[in-house]
Amino acid sequence: MEGGAELLFYVNGRKVIEKNVDPETMLLPYLRKKLRLTGTKYGCGGGGCGACTVMISRYNPITKKIRHYPANACLTPICSLYGAAITTVEGIGSTKTRIHPVQERIAKCHGTQCGFCTPGMVMSMYTLLRNHSEPTLSQLNDALGGNLCRCTGYRPIIDACKTFCKTSGCCQSKENGVCCLDQGINGLPEFEEGNETSLKLFSEEEFLPLDPTQELIFPPELMTMAEKKTQKTRIFGSDRMTWISPVTLKELLEAKVKYPQAPVVMGNTSVGPDMKFKGIFHPVIISPDRIEELSVVNYTDNGLTIGAALSLAEMKDILANVTRKLPEEKTQMYHALLKHLGTLAGPQIRNMASLGGHIVSRHPDSDLNPLLAVGNCTLNLLSKEGKRQIPLNEQFLRKCPSADLKPEEILISVNIPYSKKWEFVSAFRQAQRQQNALAIVNSGMRVCFGKGDGIIRELSIAYGGVGPTTILAKNSCQKLIGRPWNEEMLDAACRLILDEVSLPGSAPGGKVEFKRTLIISFLFKFYLEVSQILKEMDPVHYPSLASKYESALEDLRSRHYWSTLKYQNADLKQLPQDPIGHPIMHLSGIKHATGEAIYCDDMPVVDRELFLTFVTSSRARAKIVSIDLSEALSLPGVVDILTGEHLPGITTNFGFLTDTEQLLSTDEVSCVGQLICAVIADSEVQAKRAAQRVKIVYRDLEPLILTIEEAIQNKSFFEPERKLECGNVDEAFKMVDQILEGEIHMGGQEHFYMETQSMLVVPKGEDQEIDVYVSTQFPKYIQDITAAVLKVSANKVMCHVKRVGGAFGGKVTKTGVLAAITAFAANKHGRPVRCILERGEDILITGGRHPYLGKYKVGFMNDGRILALNMEHYNNAGAFLDESLFVIEMGLLKLENAYKFPNLRCRGWACRTNLPSNTALRGFGFPQAGLITEACITEVAAKCGLPPEKVRTVNMYKEIDQTPYKQEINAKNLIQCWKECMATSSYTLRKAAVEKFNSENYWKKKGLAMVPLKFPVGVGSVAAGQAAALVHIYLDGSVLVTHGGIEMGQGVHTKMIQVVSRELRMPLSSIHLRGTSTETIPNTNPSGGSVVADLNGLAVKDACQTLLKRLEPIISKNPRGTWKDWAQAAFNESISLSATGYFRGYESNINWETGEGHPFEYFVYGAACSEVEIDCLTGAHKNIRTDIVMDVGYSINPALDIGQIEGAFIQGMGLYTIEELNYSPQGVLYTRGPNQYKIPAICDIPMELHISLLPPSENSNTLYSSKGLGESGIFLGCSVFFAIHDAISAARQERGLPGPLRLNSPLTPEKIRMACEDKFTKMIPRDEPGSYVPWSIPI
Ligand SMILES: Cc1cc2nc3c(=O)[nH]c(=O)nc-3n(C[C@H](O)[C@H](O)[C@H](O)COP(=O)(O)OP(=O)(O)OC[C@H]3O[C@@H](n4cnc5c(N)ncnc54)[C@H](O)[C@@H]3O)c2cc1C
Ligand code: FES
Ligand code: FES
Repeated sequence: MEGGAELLFYVNGRKVIEKNVDPETMLLPYLRKKLRLTGTKYGCGGGGCGACTVMISRYNPITKKIRHYPANACLTPICSLYGAAITTVEGIGSTKTRIHPVQERIAKCHGTQCGFCTPGMVMSMYTLLRNHSEPTLSQLNDALGGNLCRCTGYRPIIDACKTFCKTSGCCQSKENGVCCLDQGINGLPEFEEGNETSLKLFSEEEFLPLDPTQELIFPPELMTMAEKKTQKTRIFGSDRMTWISPVTLKELLEAKVKYPQAPVVMGNTSVGPDMKFKGIFHPVIISPDRIEELSVVNYTDNGLTIGAALSLAEMKDILANVTRKLPEEKTQMYHALLKHLGTLAGPQIRNMASLGGHIVSRHPDSDLNPLLAVGNCTLNLLSKEGKRQIPLNEQFLRKCPSADLKPEEILISVNIPYSKKWEFVSAFRQAQRQQNALAIVNSGMRVCFGKGDGIIRELSIAYGGVGPTTILAKNSCQKLIGRPWNEEMLDAACRLILDEVSLPGSAPGGKVEFKRTLIISFLFKFYLEVSQILKEMDPVHYPSLASKYESALEDLRSRHYWSTLKYQNADLKQLPQDPIGHPIMHLSGIKHATGEAIYCDDMPVVDRELFLTFVTSSRARAKIVSIDLSEALSLPGVVDILTGEHLPGITTNFGFLTDTEQLLSTDEVSCVGQLICAVIADSEVQAKRAAQRVKIVYRDLEPLILTIEEAIQNKSFFEPERKLECGNVDEAFKMVDQILEGEIHMGGQEHFYMETQSMLVVPKGEDQEIDVYVSTQFPKYIQDITAAVLKVSANKVMCHVKRVGGAFGGKVTKTGVLAAITAFAANKHGRPVRCILERGEDILITGGRHPYLGKYKVGFMNDGRILALNMEHYNNAGAFLDESLFVIEMGLLKLENAYKFPNLRCRGWACRTNLPSNTALRGFGFPQAGLITEACITEVAAKCGLPPEKVRTVNMYKEIDQTPYKQEINAKNLIQCWKECMATSSYTLRKAAVEKFNSENYWKKKGLAMVPLKFPVGVGSVAAGQAAALVHIYLDGSVLVTHGGIEMGQGVHTKMIQVVSRELRMPLSSIHLRGTSTETIPNTNPSGGSVVADLNGLAVKDACQTLLKRLEPIISKNPRGTWKDWAQAAFNESISLSATGYFRGYESNINWETGEGHPFEYFVYGAACSEVEIDCLTGAHKNIRTDIVMDVGYSINPALDIGQIEGAFIQGMGLYTIEELNYSPQGVLYTRGPNQYKIPAICDIPMELHISLLPPSENSNTLYSSKGLGESGIFLGCSVFFAIHDAISAARQERGLPGPLRLNSPLTPEKIRMACEDKFTKMIPRDEPGSYVPWSIPI
């Protein structure tokens, strides 16, 4: 072995040689910090989001082939890259050279909003195109399966990628033998393009063609190196870790003898996350490099032998190939493995992870191990002592020493036997999300019958996710041998297995009853599957399955997507160059796609920069007995540790916040995640290491209040209670036909902006000036709180925001606290300080959407008319008030949604609990309040025996009316949206089709639901609506515009440039916008509440009009002149070419004493209809189709507006269906990253999505009569919730189960499955509440 090796690889065609490589360095920080390639982004650090996707290319000297694959840079150790070529987003194109067609199309198809996910998306797509220049839609969907986007809702990204597909015109969906092009049959809305309407947001004709010959070639030097293979084992080392890369089997075995405890790192997708998130440290790592024997593929008489080093993606290709060639009876196991390989993680992880690593790491939720275990697979091991074969059985999976690898042994390959005739193998799994989500329960099942006799000769069943290891139901299977395959056997099997695979009520991961139910539901599916095959093989002896029950067999998977859009063309009377009303691409779209757009952490390191990280409370309510900083301070590189004593008397009480939250707690903590100290060190790594060494002793305090119910019991509320009342509720209750009372609980939501909280504070060294570069929605707050902390006036603190990588309300208050502490550190040490939260810290510290409990008492007539409604809203505010009272207020003001409730009383409380304080999140109380109301209406409909849409229509506002707070409303457009949505979705026809489907299918049910939307827009006071702008015209005729709004993906800067272009009649290309700063626009309001473009646009318009007025004489003197001429002439005449613009805010007020006012400027109307299909046995659901009709007024930019609607809709769909936060009974948040918390991925979006904008009908005093759309679409996501509700209701009706059906949000697979009660849910053991401590509690 040779030590001190040089690491050699290529990045974007350039050779990189590293002499002193630190084996702990991952590719992501190396690219970003060392090579300054900041296009590759950090989103989670754990392989779960895809923001860091790069392409890795390797040459195989044996096959002479180059393999290009996508990989997560965050989990790729650089030491593993010897001889590889890395391509990052910068390597495929840039605005300085030539942009790549993928970059161009994703931008021009409006597939970027905040742009933070875009480089990762681009690289996933680029890698696909390197391997398949004309991919199929199915390959496309697979390729993007490991990339998350929180803004767009994926539709435009798919549209962009589809332009590379062979058949981009068609959805390729032939599921029912029908394709999208058969419009009428598929029930598609028959949108027609006309003079007034458009159906497209981009034009394909202008796209650059894809020319594969233009791509970077694989570096010839690396090929030669690989061919020669003269190198020896490479060793890289630092003080802490040694990395050994043997290149021959002999050297590998020697290394293993020398370091038996060292892991054999292949893909690092198991070792890497363990080191990062669980703090497991390995001083030595062995990482074999291209050892042929580990990559074998041998076909023997008995089966297939697959090398342990082959990636799961390679294994998938091998198995796909084998299944094509061999008869089905031999490939049962391979089909089952393929099924799981299709959904296991995303393509990046599948390409990195090795088969050997997967097997040996023995994750309890491994998808492949249960299958391999039931399939009699064997493991070929090798050590210096020789070869050995061990079975992949239960003892191996339990890591019994007698059945395990010895420390010095290596797994060489795996034998996977062929199946035989009369042998059947199946794979099952259910996860929170269809793809790229670890299974909640998975299973491998195999049965072998005697020749044609249907008697069980062998039976093997294994489960994952139900214990600390993969579990085999050995005893049960043994007892069933010799029994015929019939219902009695099934019944006995269920009971035996439930007994053997028993899960305690407090089992880690929770969802215990769901897991128990899945265990036997999967068994039932297997029973049916095998029965059906037996029937096909021998129709005489085996009874056929009733067709109604066949529905249990198929898995729900969305493979293909299809969408249509319709919007109003720009006014024909407009000047041709006027961009208002046109689908102009996001101003930064191309830069997002090339990685050139700069986010806060992309800013280069500043001289003498420090890094700050936080130590947070691990207790939910406790006295801090002591804080010991000594060990942390003694570590090298640690500069300082701040505690509350450094920041006495400073609280978050600024501007509209009245909180007295300490920035750093010293005495007491009120939630897990509360900030206690800030560690400042020379580097991020040192700061993090020191933070782990801070020792805090706590004494727990009582009572611990976590849930809303506990807060109600303890009367733990923030003051004041809010109340709104109209009509005479008590009298009305006396007049109604029926009264019902109910409640619904709604879980919270994590913002999951892709860019975590980020800031860089630079003291200027003069006059106490300080620059704060920060990813925030509210620069003024940052300025104020920083000035207070530093005890300087606001004019010394400048806050700059170039762009924000998603915010959704989460970058207002908490960002201020983080930035203030960072600024304090910077000021104290006179050095720049950077603070970038890791994903886990970010989710833990910053709170999210408020969980809600809604209680209702409703009085109604038998025809569904609601005459009396009494509502109580409780939100879980967390430990501090933050914006929770505003959220309650907005919830109350908006709760009636689209309905006229003549007698309404509603009250709301913000509950103080020991959780991190919740804050603003898109929709601000409306998504919760609206859901409660719709749940109430759904229950009223059920009680009246009427369809819910009927009760909705009956109660809807009718034209001119008054809201409960006595604001006038004209509901004409609401009714039009509703009617149009009914028509375009073919509601009535499809309702009948759904009913027919449901009557024919027992185990699958469809559901259809439509909800209306009336979203009030306004900020509650005139002052909160003021906005300012500054427009400069330079002598060359170019314009620089700034305003107070923050660009966080919604495209506000693009819209502002459109405004300037219209007002000054100037091409878009002459106008520039650099970002937002308190230096140019003082005293800004926060960006949020759907009004950013509207308010700032009016200010920009005002500035432009001031300039025009001033320049009028000059322009009229030379009407054919250019802006350059006019600017020069104005300068010569000493006319100022700079103007501020101002908008004072809309009249708006609400008096909580009288419950009356005019809090909103206007209402956004809409309607959405969604159809779903659920699997009653697993709780899975598929979003079949959604139709949305929205009234957006005169759209300033239909591409951006549709982007907001659909992005919000998908975020809402996530909120109401799969996004679930889990807290321990001690108040610890478990779900701290994309691997535990599932936001919608590409597989979740409706297979068909149709969006149409209502033609504008009224002029208003908003910006060009437009409407703000940032938030409203979230609520429309609940159409999916109610469609699932409808499907569950159908299942329950068929099973004769009694109502009322009350379902809480989110409607996860667990809730769906458990609501579809059946013989299996009855069979499972139930634990007495209180007899065990649950793993998690609903808060
Ligand atoms: C984001 C993400 C999503 C995931 N989703 C899923 C999922 O949906 N379903 C699922 O089943 N799994 C999932 N996984 C787990 C994944 O399948 C495993 O992490 C992966 O298969 C491990 O392979 P690896 O090569 O990266 O292992 P490594 O991390 O390189 O090694 C893991 C272990 O295997 C040992 N080892 C490796 N090769 C050998 C060998 N030849 N001989 C002896 N010992 C060896 C090592 O010593 C080490 O202890 C996911 C992981 C991530 C990060
Ligand atoms: S940052 Fe690498 S996958 Fe999220
Ligand atoms: S554009 Fe995808 S995360 Fe913002």
